Amino acid sequence: MKTLNIALFGCGTVGSGVYSLLSEVAQKITWRTGATFRVAKVCVCDLQKERPVQIPPELLTTDGTALLDDPAINVVVEVIGGEAQALGIITRALVNGKQVVTANKLVVAKYLPLLRRLEELHGGRLLYGASVCGSVPILKLIDETLPFDHVNKVRGILNGSTNFILSRLADGVSRTDALAIAEREGFLEADPTADISGADAAQKLSILIYHAFGVHLSPDAIPTTGIEYITERDLEHAHAGGSTIKLVAEAWREHGIVKASVAPRLLPLGDPLAAVRDEVNIVEVTCEGVGVQHFTGRGAGSIPTANAVVTDLLDIVKDRRYRPHQPTAPPPIHALLNRVAA
Ligand SMILES: NC(=O)c1ccc[n+]([C@@H]2O[C@H](COP(=O)([O-])OP(=O)(O)OC[C@H]3O[C@@H](n4cnc5c(N)ncnc54)[C@H](OP(=O)(O)O)[C@@H]3O)[C@@H](O)[C@H]2O)c1
Repeated sequence: MKTLNIALFGCGTVGSGVYSLLSEVAQKITWRTGATFRVAKVCVCDLQKERPVQIPPELLTTDGTALLDDPAINVVVEVIGGEAQALGIITRALVNGKQVVTANKLVVAKYLPLLRRLEELHGGRLLYGASVCGSVPILKLIDETLPFDHVNKVRGILNGSTNFILSRLADGVSRTDALAIAEREGFLEADPTADISGADAAQKLSILIYHAFGVHLSPDAIPTTGIEYITERDLEHAHAGGSTIKLVAEAWREHGIVKASVAPRLLPLGDPLAAVRDEVNIVEVTCEGVGVQHFTGRGAGSIPTANAVVTDLLDIVKDRRYRPHQPTAPPPIHALLNRVAA
């Protein structure tokens, strides 16, 4: 594909980062790849809103449907967040055979089998590197390991906000102050429930499981406990015993069955996960052949996430697709659609 005519859905934290990064690197991309990346339209809710980036008014629209059905648009970037409307955008784009890039872990985690089926049926493509660990290209790394190895376990810190809060509690800051600092630093959403309850980590773990084990485990099926009740006193006790507390997301095989959990865990200070502080993410992948590997980096924020989105756009030019395990027997399309209706 030589010209990417992009419809950018959403221009908030991530979308504005994508727009400004693309404006900055457009010439470099053309020079390196021979392809032109052109943001043709930016779809938002409020045309009058002040944005951190300057967008020519003629690019802004609220008519997403027209963009999804416009044959001149060959790439859709979905960064609006939420579930129903984002799912509608992604599925319509895929049914129209478009290339789709999303950062939406909720939609990807819940509907991955359906989305992959739509990709296959209509010849489009779905890339979602930004949905797990932001700038760390963990899905690609796992995919590339699989042809010659076998993943036995994945374990990690997948949510930057809760790791930031736990790091402040470990510094002796009170729970109330830790939450206030996280909010001030932009690490907490207006509604932080998904972060604090562990739901966000469960969504990311579900996507990792699909890539590492070839099994779709919906985030709702992953036993999940958050950090609602952890205080600075708990961290103090943990440290006195040579440990710390981290929100650990993990999945492993047990007698051929994939098991998973998200929960606060007491980790010895020497554990590689224990050393990861603030908003940083880490994923530990244990493979039969190569053993244990660690991948770490910033998992959220405007520019790290925008970087992951732009990397996916480059992968479209390189004709790269995810190649996770094929789940043993893909369910028929009507069964997948029934799950959406339910
Ligand atoms: N923030 C991060 O660090 C981060 C990291 C990784 C992944 N993600 C994921 O990236 C996605 C976006 O997150 P964000 O933080 O950028 O969200 P955000 O700041 O709330 O921005 C959402 C944007 O979407 C627009 N929007 C909402 N509903 C829309 C609709 N129906 N049609 C068109 N535009 C619509 C909003 O328009 P208006 O501006 O006009 O209101 C806004 O520009 C989410 O799925 C999130 O989970 C975020």
